[in-house]
Amino acid sequence: MRFTAAVLLASLNMAAYADSYQALTAEGAALIPAFQQQLLGTVKAAMQAGGPAKAVEACRLSAPQIAAEHSKSPWTVGRTALKVRNPANAPDAWERRVLELFAERAEAGEALADLVQAETVDGEFRMMKAIATGEPCLACHGKHIEPALAAVIDVGYPQDEARGFALGELRGAFTLRRTVEVGND
Ligand code: HEC
Repeated sequence: MRFTAAVLLASLNMAAYADSYQALTAEGAALIPAFQQQLLGTVKAAMQAGGPAKAVEACRLSAPQIAAEHSKSPWTVGRTALKVRNPANAPDAWERRVLELFAERAEAGEALADLVQAETVDGEFRMMKAIATGEPCLACHGKHIEPALAAVIDVGYPQDEARGFALGELRGAFTLRRTVEVGND
């Protein structure tokens, strides 16, 4: 009897946990479009105003600030990749594992749009969503970067690894984290 009650309680907790997990994932996912739009909009506007070199400069100056602006307490948002342009975006151990998992799943034929991972890591809720390499990304991350632009990138990012990507390839991921309340129930 006591055992049944315990099992029932445990499964109720599990259900509540699964619910809140889903809610957190949805809450995090909802922050991504505006973040992505602002990054794209900033690059596009700079591209139109002053060409790709200007856009690289705009990206270098604005990307960290845009991430900070879209980090609404308790959430922190950012981007990471296995091959990074800015070393400040390098993945930590958990992010690296998820990026490798995304790469494996993409290799196995899963659509990049479906690659989302959410986990509780050291008391934090963390989630990642894959980023695909689209057509507008190739100018700065593709296999054939204009030499003049490559030179600009070299100056800003002497350790750049984020080149040589093909259309549709996994470029990296959005990475989000927030603290979670530890329930007392
Ligand atoms: C005008 C050049 C340019 C274009 C176009 C561009 N990027 Fe980038 N990208 C950059 C620069 C510069 C950085 C480094 C930003 C920083 O300092 O945080 C960067 C960083 C990134 C990062 C963060 C990880 C890293 O490598 O540091 C991701 C992910 C990324 N870009 C994806 C994309 C995708 C996807 C597209 C197309 C939708 C795209 N980029 C288009 C220049 C560009």
